[in-house]
Amino acid sequence: EAAEKGGFEHFMLKEIHEQPKALRDTMASRIAHDLSINLHDLDDIDIEKAGKLFIVACGTAYHAGVVGKYLIERMARLPVEVDIASEFRYRQPIISKGDLAIVISQSGETADTLAALRELKRQGATVIAIANVVGSTITREANKVLYTWAGPEIAVASTKAYTTQLLVITMIALYMAKRRGAMKQRNIDDIVSDIIKLPDKAQSILNGKEAVQHYAAQHFSAHSIFFIGRGLDYALAMEGSLKLKEISYIHSEAYAAGELKHGTIALIEPGTLVVALATQPELFDKMLSNIKEVKARGAVVMAVVQEGNTAIEDVADYVIYLPDTSSWLVPMLGVIPLQLFAYYTALYKGCDVDKPRNLAKSVTVE
Ligand code: G6P
Repeated sequence: EAAEKGGFEHFMLKEIHEQPKALRDTMASRIAHDLSINLHDLDDIDIEKAGKLFIVACGTAYHAGVVGKYLIERMARLPVEVDIASEFRYRQPIISKGDLAIVISQSGETADTLAALRELKRQGATVIAIANVVGSTITREANKVLYTWAGPEIAVASTKAYTTQLLVITMIALYMAKRRGAMKQRNIDDIVSDIIKLPDKAQSILNGKEAVQHYAAQHFSAHSIFFIGRGLDYALAMEGSLKLKEISYIHSEAYAAGELKHGTIALIEPGTLVVALATQPELFDKMLSNIKEVKARGAVVMAVVQEGNTAIEDVADYVIYLPDTSSWLVPMLGVIPLQLFAYYTALYKGCDVDKPRNLAKSVTVE
């Protein structure tokens, strides 16, 4: 097993470090030299006429789906409904023939996701699977499959599967935007050229991991940690919070920062830790106000922002700077410090990082 961990103390840390390669492998055959996106398997789907798209998944894959909803609606102007798979069938979703669906699953075996896929197909939707395990049940039953080439993920807490799921869904959003004429080619090309640079940027975050380790060392005994963000940062907050609770057993919640004042801010006391994600330029000022609100109640704030946003230093206690990229792509970089934070917090608490209590890598019961 030590050999399989490649010199890392845990599979999770190894898999966090494999993200630059996983991103590179996942985009390799799909982005051409002229920056065009090749998702040929989707060419015969009637994307131009589609009325609605469903995204269904569980756990971390669901969080990738929440990002996907945001990107596909904003880029391709196609209405998207995103559901937790175990809830999907029971709300009697209104599915019409010709609707599209994306199911996301690392293992390709999650029972609830599989059941949702079958229901979608039964009602006439065309289902695209985003999966990591080649030949898994979900890949065999879906109409189309786009693999995440992340390689085997052993740690229960998902890391490189999530970043590559985000990459695939981003490529789908851009591909659909082009087919639907919803974005200018120049804008698509700008984002694609930023995608190509993501692996190196992910590597540079990993090279600076000591900053996050230091923060975790100071706060691993916290009882409760809040993650706040707006827009894509809210989706990212959900994943950061899940990572932390899965492996460190610290109570944690993710909140849309603007919603704090409607209840959750009552839980903020002197010393409460808040991880504030403020990577989205058009929401940055609003996030600054939300950070001030929690600071005024005594919170200790770690902020994650894009390079150059030094105004954050006036309000936050710690700042993690991400390499500059298109705001659409930030979650693929922003999640890395959150994964590292969860990892080191669990490590300092003495938790079994790779095999957290009560959790399984793949859940094959409904
Ligand atoms: C389990 C795992 C999670 C994972 C979820 C969905 O709960 O512990 O890490 O996100 O299943 O798994 P899937 O294989 O469908 O992505």
